Amino acid sequence: MNSLKDLIANNRRWAEQVTAEDPDFFRQLSMQQAPRYLWIGCSDSRVPATQIVDLPPGEIFVHRNVANVVVHTDLNALSTIQFSVDVLKVEHILVVGHYGCGGVGAALNEDRLGLIDNWLRHVGDVKQKHRSALAKLADFPAKHDRLCELNVIEQVRHVSQTTIVRDAWERGQKLTVHGWIYGLKDGHITDLGIDVPGNDALVDAYVGAIERLTGERPEA
Ligand code: CO
Repeated sequence: MNSLKDLIANNRRWAEQVTAEDPDFFRQLSMQQAPRYLWIGCSDSRVPATQIVDLPPGEIFVHRNVANVVVHTDLNALSTIQFSVDVLKVEHILVVGHYGCGGVGAALNEDRLGLIDNWLRHVGDVKQKHRSALAKLADFPAKHDRLCELNVIEQVRHVSQTTIVRDAWERGQKLTVHGWIYGLKDGHITDLGIDVPGNDALVDAYVGAIERLTGERPEA
């Protein structure tokens, strides 16, 4: 286990390495950020955004919370989306879930963990919405994986339905919302095949992704 002093020492060593490779790196980055991506992911310590896609600081604007949930009244998520879309003009919003998500597992199992149960109730809603598809799966691990995937797709839909994203599309801004999932066991990201480049594409993208995943056609 690292002490806090170790963390500061690590930081200095890292900054020196980066500067050795590119003496201008921090000076350039300190003047402006121009990320092309907004990452909406889980807070899980094993899913660090820039590291798993091997990008340096400055490339990804990040919002993380437990179980990568986008709730339409969450001022924190909405502010992050609004700033990144309206001000930074990101071109892609990546909703990135992960297999083995503890938050999704707790929602699936209806665990009582405390205050967080209220937050995870949103994942419980996803579970309830897709209960017939989940019921077809044999065991808890299979249902857990599927709910992690379904949760990503539902959150892609939520992002696409925000006034921020809809307004950006309406004024012709180039912006696509995507759904990915990360495997803790092999470090691989899988594209869940939902890409939403505009309001008109949302229903087909959503229905298609759910149908491919579950074999069931959801209500749009
Ligand atoms: Co998680």
